Amino acid sequence: MEKKFQYLLAPMEDLADSCFRTICHRYGANLTFTELNRIDSLARNNKSSWKRIKLFDETPTVIQVIGEKEQFLKKFLSKFNPEKGFSGFNLNLGCPAPNFVNHGIGCAMIKRIAKTKKLVQILKDNGYSTSIKMRLGLNQFEKEKKVYLNLINNVNADFFIVHARHGKQGYNEKADWSVFAECVKTGKNIVANGDIKTKEDVEKIRSFGCRGVMIGRAAIINPLIFAELKGLTVPSLGKVKLEYEQLLKERDVSYKYHQNIFKHLGKVDGSFNELS
Ligand SMILES: Cc1cc2nc3c(=O)[nH]c(=O)nc-3n(C[C@H](O)[C@H](O)[C@H](O)COP(=O)(O)O)c2cc1C
Repeated sequence: MEKKFQYLLAPMEDLADSCFRTICHRYGANLTFTELNRIDSLARNNKSSWKRIKLFDETPTVIQVIGEKEQFLKKFLSKFNPEKGFSGFNLNLGCPAPNFVNHGIGCAMIKRIAKTKKLVQILKDNGYSTSIKMRLGLNQFEKEKKVYLNLINNVNADFFIVHARHGKQGYNEKADWSVFAECVKTGKNIVANGDIKTKEDVEKIRSFGCRGVMIGRAAIINPLIFAELKGLTVPSLGKVKLEYEQLLKERDVSYKYHQNIFKHLGKVDGSFNELS
């Protein structure tokens, strides 16, 4: 992870496709993330999964994967060729959806240290930068047991993105930033995530010693947020919309992504309630 404080665009399913990632990078995001991709689907050559990880330009992009089977990960990696822009893999240890949690993955994997270590090792043995995105545990009990610290202490990932909620919390409950200082104390590279929107928020996160911030919903409403937080001059949102539409014409991308983006772009925060 670069020395300078980093601004990351969060992975967001059905929203943050390659066109949106390019726009966010053009206006200040240092690093962007694909939405989650099932390791088993990639290993089985599922066409739409491979389409989701296709990169179109040099926008620094981390590919996020979710799953647990080492043989599937190895099979996928044997077919994977990094395209320009590829900036490593991220393991999803945060998704609270029952279809993942009931199979011991997503945020149910935070306490599965040995399994996580194996997956990280496979990615690293293949020479790829590897990060982890995690919640604080599956539920309040696990958060209180500090399973997140145990994972950060014991797994050798390049950086950890900590979404400061546990798996039972929706977006109506505020992210608990008080955990960041203890995460940083482990000596690992920590990126903070959850409800970060303003320069004051970023200053607060910096004071904990985090290496960067990851921004999700606020970037969908305003993709210029990265430039604004960095104090750069920004064009009008109208101009950015036109640039985004131009990219949509140039790339073979799914309609649903831009339909979803246009539902939220330029709207007030409340427009995300339906997604929480
Ligand atoms: C619509 C939507 C889709 C998401 N999809 C993913 C995903 O694919 N992978 C992931 O790790 N997190 C996903 N997240 C979680 C975000 O990456 C982020 O952790 C969360 O929104 C908190 O950050 P924020 O307050 O800046 O939005 C998603 C969030 C939303 C709202």
